[in-house]
Amino acid sequence: MKLIKKVFAVALAVMMLATLTVSAFAVSLPDLGNSILRFNEDGKFKIMMFADSQDDETLEETTAQLMREALDAHSPDLVVYLGDNTVAGGYENQAKAIEAIVAPCVERDIPFTIVFGNHDQEQGVEKEVLLREYQKYPGCLAYDVDPSLYGCGNHNLPILASDGLGIAFNLWFIDSGTSVAEAGGYDYVREDQIQWYKDTAAALKTLNGGKLVPAINFQHIIVPEVYDAVGMIKLPFGIEDFNYNGNNYLPVPNFGAYTGYIFEPPCPSHINGGQMAAWIETGDVMATFYGHDHVNDFTTTYEGIDITTVPTVGCNSYSNDINRGVGLITLDENDLTTYQYEALRMYDFALAEGSKIPECDGALSTIEYMLYKVLDQFLDALHKMASIFSFAK
Ligand SMILES: [Fe+2]
Repeated sequence: MKLIKKVFAVALAVMMLATLTVSAFAVSLPDLGNSILRFNEDGKFKIMMFADSQDDETLEETTAQLMREALDAHSPDLVVYLGDNTVAGGYENQAKAIEAIVAPCVERDIPFTIVFGNHDQEQGVEKEVLLREYQKYPGCLAYDVDPSLYGCGNHNLPILASDGLGIAFNLWFIDSGTSVAEAGGYDYVREDQIQWYKDTAAALKTLNGGKLVPAINFQHIIVPEVYDAVGMIKLPFGIEDFNYNGNNYLPVPNFGAYTGYIFEPPCPSHINGGQMAAWIETGDVMATFYGHDHVNDFTTTYEGIDITTVPTVGCNSYSNDINRGVGLITLDENDLTTYQYEALRMYDFALAEGSKIPECDGALSTIEYMLYKVLDQFLDALHKMASIFSFAK
């Protein structure tokens, strides 16, 4: 990774020169291959997300095949593993588990990066060791920007404009931690990580001629503001498990405040470290993507920042077959004030002509996938009807 970081540093220097001289000269950046992300000639950039593959050295066949078929169908420019990626016991098995989940990307020369979840390091192998294991594979763009920061693997990846004349977009990857007694449950993003984010966003802005570089954030554990965003009802008395942002909530959402499924109450930290406030203050982050709550798959908005839980790609831990799948973001450099997001369902891949998913060990039958598709459509219609009658957000 030293090479990638070095190339990245050189690219930033060249970009700075290009930014300073663009009005006078048509400066092009050298082709740096997969080390640097760049919008395609058609102006698009696609990011596929695999959340909670959460498997050991024997990766479930259905998970691997879902990854392969999703990659082949959409040819993303980058893949993000959204945490709880591997849970095999000990170094040897964790290494094999990592090899299994990155293989679909490596076989296709698709660059990828990772964030860690709360479970990755619970198997006796530190995250620093796991990160080095990922970095052995070609196409791995993950790095730990500053080992002194809380967690491991905090980093960002700018995307250059298609003409190479500067940074068009930025991607943040944050370690949202594990489980800590201090937080009474799940961890939270700490002050030093937030300060690094603020400093780096300011540096990118300077590099971009004083204009904010629009961005998306990826991490495993959702922010506590989700409870307000989806309209959970505040209670005047305490429910210990649902105390967030200094409030007690009845974990029943307002159906009109989100799209998709909330099949379980979201599980952020009980401590709010101020990450959302920093995003709002800085103004670059338009959307945030999470794994963690395996059966959830929804999008809501808080103060103009989208909050999305990505469906689970794996099945080794609790999940369901209604919304199991992958997430896909499409950016268009012609309008980076917005983005497109789709939750791609496993049943759609399994029902596509030529799919090998139904032949995999542990797969459902084609009829079962069809039934889940019908059920999904029915529940979606029900949600839309309920939204009409729900109180305004
Ligand atoms: Fe998980």
